[in-house]
Amino acid sequence: MRHHHDTSLREPPKKKVTKEGVKRLLRLFSFIKPQRYTFFGGLFFLVLSSLVTLVFPMLMGDLLDSAQSKSLDKINRIGLTLMIIFVINAVFSFFRIYLFAIVTQKTLALLRQTTYSHLIKLPMAFFSSHRIGELNSRISADISLLQETFTTTIAQFIRQIITIVGGIVILTFISLQLTLFMLAIVPVIAIVARFFGTYIRKMSREAQTKVAESNTIVEETLQAIANVKAFANEAFEMLRYKRKTDEVIDISLKGAKWRGLFVSFIFLSMFGSIAGVIWYGVSLVNQGEGITTGGLFKFVLYTVFIAGSISGMADFYSQIQKAIGATENLMDILDEVPESIGENENPPTIDKLGTVRFKKVGFNYPGRKEVVVLKDISFEVSKGEKVALVGPSGAGKTTIGALLFRFYQPTGGEISIDSKPIDDYDLSELRSHMAIVPQEVILFGGTIKENIEYGKPGATDEEIRLAAEKANAWEFISGFPEGMNTIVGDRGIQLSGGQRQRIAIARAILRDPDILILDEATSSLDAESERLVQEALQVLMQNRTSIIIAHRLSTIRNADKIIVIDKGEVRETGTHEELLALEDGIYKNLNALQIDVFG
Ligand SMILES: Nc1ncnc2c1ncn2[C@@H]1O[C@H](COP(=O)(O)OP(=O)(O)OP(=O)(O)O)[C@@H](O)[C@H]1O
Ligand SMILES: [Mg+2]
Repeated sequence: MRHHHDTSLREPPKKKVTKEGVKRLLRLFSFIKPQRYTFFGGLFFLVLSSLVTLVFPMLMGDLLDSAQSKSLDKINRIGLTLMIIFVINAVFSFFRIYLFAIVTQKTLALLRQTTYSHLIKLPMAFFSSHRIGELNSRISADISLLQETFTTTIAQFIRQIITIVGGIVILTFISLQLTLFMLAIVPVIAIVARFFGTYIRKMSREAQTKVAESNTIVEETLQAIANVKAFANEAFEMLRYKRKTDEVIDISLKGAKWRGLFVSFIFLSMFGSIAGVIWYGVSLVNQGEGITTGGLFKFVLYTVFIAGSISGMADFYSQIQKAIGATENLMDILDEVPESIGENENPPTIDKLGTVRFKKVGFNYPGRKEVVVLKDISFEVSKGEKVALVGPSGAGKTTIGALLFRFYQPTGGEISIDSKPIDDYDLSELRSHMAIVPQEVILFGGTIKENIEYGKPGATDEEIRLAAEKANAWEFISGFPEGMNTIVGDRGIQLSGGQRQRIAIARAILRDPDILILDEATSSLDAESERLVQEALQVLMQNRTSIIIAHRLSTIRNADKIIVIDKGEVRETGTHEELLALEDGIYKNLNALQIDVFG
């Protein structure tokens, strides 16, 4: 599987306009494809309105020349035509903008939806090797950049091309000599403009990255706001944020300086060249070289149009480079392999899952390859058995649960359920038969009811209430004025740890899984609630395979089997009594210690 380091997102490489880059940008067009008719409609109006705009200087010149013709009729006719041109252009412009907006909005929505639905299907390995806040702000920054590209850049580019090509063609008809004179000046400006454009693009890209980095600080600290406050680290975080945002000022101002120079340069060269053209044109008129005053006026207007378009083109180039950078980030994410890809074509059908077996399983986290978390784990949990995993903190207990859920791939050995490797099963089918009450319960920001219902979307109110009762959660839920509709706050912070845990248990009960993993499920409960939840769990564990991870050994005395894990290996296996009988056993020692503490 391809793998990215965080650094690839923090410091996006400069994107040259390469064949590869353009190819990826073109891939973006597959997202526009469903809107192609609307797009061509918009394009049609765009071309029309650009062409009509080209007629405008022509008529203005004619109008000026007609001053000498003494025919009021002709003057009025040209004036009227001009008015009609303006109206037509107004109508065309409306449709162009509206149609392009449709294309842009629908394309971006599709892009957002595709990215999101791809993102949530990516394996856990992806998420543990990326900073989520950064990923999030990067994606939204990239998508808004593409929005700009679609709405304004492309349209402007087409407009500018038409103006430049059409304008020059018309100019040669007015005066070839003057056109050649003008063209001798403009390319010089264009080349210098390009040099500026490249530099400015680099600056704005750096600023963009810095903004993304400062957003990451906001997001991460707000998510862990209680930590920030508890450690009184507000000043530290403010300083950290201030530094980053100050860096944004530096970079942006440096960019602004160059942008300012760029604009000054364009103004200078534009007015300079226009003055030059007028000077040369006037001398041609003066010498009677077949050009009228009106013709000169037309010429100047066209030159202004063309010069504006050419300077806009430099901007287009830098916009395209930015868009390529943004597309590449998005495409990198879209190129990540989702976790269910390459699955068994004919997965075994699942009626009810039973026996879990770990055979010589080895594992290290993909983000930290040098640390072996599981060395050689072998154990079996027979159908309907309750097996406890115990061991010191960091021994790898939670990791074993994660492997069973196929959050990560083991680096060695095999995990099977009912004698079939877990990889053979259909991933979501497999997971739908399992449930976990995690060590750290994080709820969704909605209501209690929504959070319980997550175990079985579409469950009836009655089922949800029953599950809450069984988890011993009903009592505190009914104590809230809003009951089941109580909002739990961001990630569940408006509930206590024990309340959150019972909601997670209710969710698992509602799911009615074949295999249940309880990761320290009663760790945040007081003695009385723990007893009640234990009772609930005993009922819950009936008729299903259960793996209980516990620190408090009192809760697992009556497990069918206790597996002691230490340093990535299974050290002891047996019932409570058997393990206590082991001379100098780890379990025996742990037990003795805990009797002191909790006894
Ligand atoms: N996402 C991760 N990336 C890298 N290393 C990890 C990751 N999650 C856990 N680890 C490491 O793997 C080891 C085992 O962690 P695990 O969470 O399985 O321990 P545990 O037995 O559940 O501990 P505890 O009793 O404290 O919950 C630890 O050393 C931990 O630092
Ligand atoms: Mg754990």
